[in-house]
Amino acid sequence: MKAPAPLRLGIAGLGTVGVGVLRIVAAQAETLALRTGRAIEVSAVSARSRGKDRGIDLTPYAWEDDPVALARRNDVDLFVELMGGSDGPAKAATEAALAAGKPVVTANKAMLALHGQALAELAEANDAPLRFEAAVAGGIPCVKALTEGLAGNAITRVSGVMNGTCNYILTRMEASGLPYAEVFKEADALGYLEADPTLDVGGIDAGHKLALLAAIAFGTQVDFEGVQLQGIERVSIDDIHRARDMGYRIKLLGEARRTPAGVEQSMRPTLVPAESPLGQLEGGTNMVVFEGDAVGQIVMRGAGAGEGPTASAVMADVADIARGLRIPPFGQPAATLAPPRRANAATHCAHYIRLNLRDEPGAMAKVATALGLAGISIDRMRQYDHAGDDAPVLIVTHPCAPSDMAGALDQVTATGVVHGEPVALQIQTP
Ligand SMILES: NC(=O)c1ccc[n+]([C@@H]2O[C@H](COP(=O)([O-])OP(=O)(O)OC[C@H]3O[C@@H](n4cnc5c(N)ncnc54)[C@H](OP(=O)(O)O)[C@@H]3O)[C@@H](O)[C@H]2O)c1
Repeated sequence: MKAPAPLRLGIAGLGTVGVGVLRIVAAQAETLALRTGRAIEVSAVSARSRGKDRGIDLTPYAWEDDPVALARRNDVDLFVELMGGSDGPAKAATEAALAAGKPVVTANKAMLALHGQALAELAEANDAPLRFEAAVAGGIPCVKALTEGLAGNAITRVSGVMNGTCNYILTRMEASGLPYAEVFKEADALGYLEADPTLDVGGIDAGHKLALLAAIAFGTQVDFEGVQLQGIERVSIDDIHRARDMGYRIKLLGEARRTPAGVEQSMRPTLVPAESPLGQLEGGTNMVVFEGDAVGQIVMRGAGAGEGPTASAVMADVADIARGLRIPPFGQPAATLAPPRRANAATHCAHYIRLNLRDEPGAMAKVATALGLAGISIDRMRQYDHAGDDAPVLIVTHPCAPSDMAGALDQVTATGVVHGEPVALQIQTP
């Protein structure tokens, strides 16, 4: 029997991930051909500067300055977009490839979080697969798990730690006792931060990933604007230590839930039980947790970024396309994805409150009364020794609506017995 023609890749973007893909295609050529039944080759590449030394021999590949021209080349069967950026050349070249009926594999969460619905419609209209495993949690095959392995489940919750840089900063603060600003500088020096660090520490990058998983999990159009975002910039070393005293660790936690009112999505610093899998997650590692009606809870853990892990995820998509697998980008036809229906702050949860109490008689009673009047009851409380005129106090509340908590903090401040602004963080609901 005649061997099938090789699948010829055109790769736009030769940075960390693009070079990783070139390395895997070369190193695993034989294995990939055996596993997919077809040779996988790279025919052409593109990046901004042709002369840059990338530590890899590019002479076997044709060069295009323009990624759109690369996507349209006759010797490119599959376009691999690894440039990044939600718009600009990444989107233009992706659209050009899809319009030409060519499959696209991308690691670009920003582009998909903002334009995922339109790109999925374009892909399906042209019968061209669009895949993005590498866009979510790096090397963890969570998109595949959701679209294929869990296809028989009604997914009720997706949660996880999806930004390794934030997890590195939070765990390093705890281990070193250094404040946020110092550890941020360290992370920058180590090259862990994006060119625009707010994408990482502001929770935006992780929010993009959560929005993509939520769309697949709940059969809804991707709704990044619906993610309630809060970054880690205001997490203090005091909060980290005090939370630990109460049996918790602070994580930038993403949660998307199906509720009767719609989909609730949030990415914010949250206390998780120290002994839970999420609580034990160290350094730059990611964790994605799915809950399905039939399967129960599934936990996936692994490297969320870096050359090898991200290129590994890109190649998983390339291999699926080589095998002829056809799955709509969000797991079901784009036209059947429900428009976003937001149910933000629908879930009641316990909170951790940290405040500095003035050293005066009846101060604690006034705080408890203010919370009670706002409908919030106290589960546990701990008072620390006075430091000067103030005594740090920690309170763990019973579950309440997040909107009630905002009002309650105003009431607590109005008592006049608290120094500075009280801090409140949500505690993950079981
Ligand atoms: N790095 C990770 O660990 C990771 C993990 C998950 C997902 N991702 C995603 O993967 C994608 C690539 O990330 P990366 O870390 O590999 O980025 P990177 O190292 O900054 O590389 C980007 C590449 O794109 C090229 N490029 C940028 N603008 C271009 C343009 N206008 N025309 C042609 N080429 C252009 C750059 O060319 P020059 O080299 O000539 O400047 C560079 O080779 C992004 O969407 C990112 O979010 C990355």
